[in-house]
Amino acid sequence: MSVTAIKGMNDVLPGEVETWQFLEKSAREVFGFHGFSEIRTPIAEKTELFCRSIGETTDIVEKEMYTFSDKSENSLTLRPEGTAPVMRAFIQNRLHTLDPVSKLYYMGPMFRYERPQKGRYRQFHQIGVEVIGVEDARIDAQVLAMLHQYFNHIGITAVSLQINSLGCPECRPGYRQQLIAYLESRLDVLCADCQRRYQTNPLRVLDCKAKGCQEATVDAPSVIEHLCSPCNDHFAQVKEYLQALQIPFTVNSRMVRGLDYYVRTTFELVTDQLGSQNAVAAGGRYDGLVESLGGPALPGIGFAIGLERLVLMKGEQRITPPEPQLFIATIGAEAVERAFVLMSQLQLAGVRVEMDYLGKSLKAQMRRANKLKAAFTLVLGEEELESGEAQLKNMSDSSQSLVSLGSLVESFAEKNL
Ligand code: HAM
Repeated sequence: MSVTAIKGMNDVLPGEVETWQFLEKSAREVFGFHGFSEIRTPIAEKTELFCRSIGETTDIVEKEMYTFSDKSENSLTLRPEGTAPVMRAFIQNRLHTLDPVSKLYYMGPMFRYERPQKGRYRQFHQIGVEVIGVEDARIDAQVLAMLHQYFNHIGITAVSLQINSLGCPECRPGYRQQLIAYLESRLDVLCADCQRRYQTNPLRVLDCKAKGCQEATVDAPSVIEHLCSPCNDHFAQVKEYLQALQIPFTVNSRMVRGLDYYVRTTFELVTDQLGSQNAVAAGGRYDGLVESLGGPALPGIGFAIGLERLVLMKGEQRITPPEPQLFIATIGAEAVERAFVLMSQLQLAGVRVEMDYLGKSLKAQMRRANKLKAAFTLVLGEEELESGEAQLKNMSDSSQSLVSLGSLVESFAEKNL
């Protein structure tokens, strides 16, 4: 039996990859307007990086990481997300010494050992951004405005923005204790996972999809009502700036996110078009993360977009690969030789050309030209080689014009075909 791909890891095939390229190109354009530069980090990092940043008690670190030992017995992990590697690179390369504000973006594969289903894979791709160095609530709003602009740019509008504030190390511990006490009195109705994690990660219970957990937490204390005054002010400002920038949003005080590094603003861009995998992008503020990883005490905020989910949402509006501008059909070995050289010259000049390599009949070659939707065809036979001229046929209206083979490149350039 032939070898197949790993479960949950997909090929991106021609016909689909054009949509990916469009989404990636659009991100580069939009993020470029906002002054972001690209950063590329390795696909694997030391395991410790993710344990220290994402958090030991999160689902990602507890059960979803692709961790392995290399031949020197170092524990390595395929990155499950992009924020921690970018912070590691930021600290290691002392990027804060170049500019007090770093605006970075990245795109590439991430790996999580999750149960694969529509919109959820084991290798998936994120387009992410991180801003390091600004605490002001304006940057929260600007990052969200950029996310909004990106979705408008790519033509996906069936999404809505939900925001929350998770407080900070000043106010969250008090809230956490209250939540634990609240959950303790309802332990019997919580799912097995939440019974296990309510002490270590009580906020996750609010986000649990199990019916019992959802019912049990309907009246749970709300994080927003327990913010300290600076966190409260910050959240109020974020909302004001979002209104000023006319970015629609709703507050969802039950949104807790699955990574431990978040403080204050968190957000998700959700859709009802993808079943249970409803977040197409998500992120938040992580003041304290850079310092906890051994860097300067700088605040940060960012988000990551799930590329597969965008592609699913683009669905019918797929972008198709560009068609050939010319198909050169040939009759006889000499014509093949000439066509081969002509094709190369045209390609060098930036014209998309195809020809036959399989010795097919003229009829079969024309069928292929039609199938490829070539804009023009040119038939080269003995007669054409002798006269140095051939009929260039416009496939959309069947009109023909005589062109000189010696100046085919110029004709294409002139006609802007
Ligand atoms: P996250 O919520 O874990 O956040 O992932 C962000 C997005 O990646 C999700 O909203 C989803 O679209 C996509 N995603 C996550 N897991 C999968 C999967 N298994 N299959 C397909 N798509 C998936 C982060 O990763 C943070 N690093 C975001 C961030 C950046 N926060 C601050 N800066």
